[in-house]
Amino acid sequence: MRKIVINGGKPLTGEVAVSGAKNSVVALIPAILLADDIVILDGVPAISDVDSLIEIMEIMGARVIREGETLEIDPRGVKNIPMPYGKINSLRASYYFYGSLLGRFGEATVGLPGGCDLGPRPIDLHLKAFEAMGAKVSYEGDNMRLATESGQLHGTHIYFDIVTVGATINTMIAAVKAKGKTVIENAAREPEIIDVATLLNNMGARIRGAGTDVITIEGVDYLGSTRHQVIPDRIEAGSYIALAAAVGKGIRVTNVLYEHLESFIAKLDEMGVRMTIEEDSIFVEKQEALKPVNIRTAPYPGFATDLQQPVTPLLLKAEGRGNLVDTIYEKRVNHVPELARMGANIKTIGSTIIYDGPNQLTGAPVKATDLRAGAALVTAGLMAKGRTEITNIEFILRGYSNIIEKLRALGADIDIIEE
Ligand code: EPU
Repeated sequence: MRKIVINGGKPLTGEVAVSGAKNSVVALIPAILLADDIVILDGVPAISDVDSLIEIMEIMGARVIREGETLEIDPRGVKNIPMPYGKINSLRASYYFYGSLLGRFGEATVGLPGGCDLGPRPIDLHLKAFEAMGAKVSYEGDNMRLATESGQLHGTHIYFDIVTVGATINTMIAAVKAKGKTVIENAAREPEIIDVATLLNNMGARIRGAGTDVITIEGVDYLGSTRHQVIPDRIEAGSYIALAAAVGKGIRVTNVLYEHLESFIAKLDEMGVRMTIEEDSIFVEKQEALKPVNIRTAPYPGFATDLQQPVTPLLLKAEGRGNLVDTIYEKRVNHVPELARMGANIKTIGSTIIYDGPNQLTGAPVKATDLRAGAALVTAGLMAKGRTEITNIEFILRGYSNIIEKLRALGADIDIIEE
């Protein structure tokens, strides 16, 4: 078993660079499966979700060359075979292969996706969109089969009852090679959706409106070669900014697109966090007294659910009481008992997290129950007096590129040990 061990209480300083966005790249790689030529991605983060996606692409017949942060993918040899079940099961974003296989072959046999346990995470809206585009869904043992009669999806008009990132991107991926025009209404507006549309358009797709709540896709027959820079990870950026405010004595977080973080920065401003917004970085000063705030997560451009857990340790430093409500995943509260184990005055009532501060945390053995809970525990461990041991660290390594190296460079006493 591997653990992250932190000896906390040390003030950190220096510069930390944000990597390419996990939630973009996990869609970009499956989207490239549609290409009729070689596609290159730059700024690919060193996270285990990327390792898994590359493995799936190779098993399907793609040729992939990875050099540092650059990925060259030649998907021309991809075969129409069932997707490897075990791998699919290990990460949620594998559902993007449904869209790309359907788009390329008009059919797909796939396992059901896995991912972090944040409560129920259905994929009914993905399937509803595929069905509206002419695919029939059936189940064969552990696998799901998606198939069109004509061998090609057709364009249609789709309205999503819930704003969903995954189903918006998946429909977009499926529609780029469909026959005719697809319109997605009540589409999600996250920056990762624009990133995927940019890649596809540069390959020759005809997508308009990504980043608004109506996206229109005119199907094309051919998608060619391109080279694409993955956008910076706004969630990783927010995680480091919160960490810097909690334990930094002057930290510059670089490769940040401020426009993607406005609601998050606004909340930190409300807390009294002192920072300077620079051209593509944010300098976070050493903080004095912080004010408590109430946070409600919402679809973009609202406060991101993925930043709710990473910001919680910082909230614990504020003087007074505040609350946090996750309206996207109301069961995303597994970090709360772990923080309480470290001495935090924090609890959940129903799906509301309530905290009272300020808190001095104490190192303890804790468990990362999911990716962002893990990020919260790393920050908490750095804030705490004494030694924190975090188990289940595979969740953290799925989404934070070189996290140990990045924190060590800031002066953190952090390591991974094998037991
Ligand atoms: N939903 C449905 N049916 C569907 C799809 C979604 O009911 O078919 C519901 C979900 O249960 C949820 C809401 O709609 O309540 C929004 O879910 P969404 O589809 O937007 O989530 P996702 O696409 O599965 C992505 C990110 C998550 C992030 C959410 C924020 C990826 C690979 N994952 O998930 O990222 O929390 O959007 O909406 O892009 C993370 O990075 O830690 C993470 C979990």
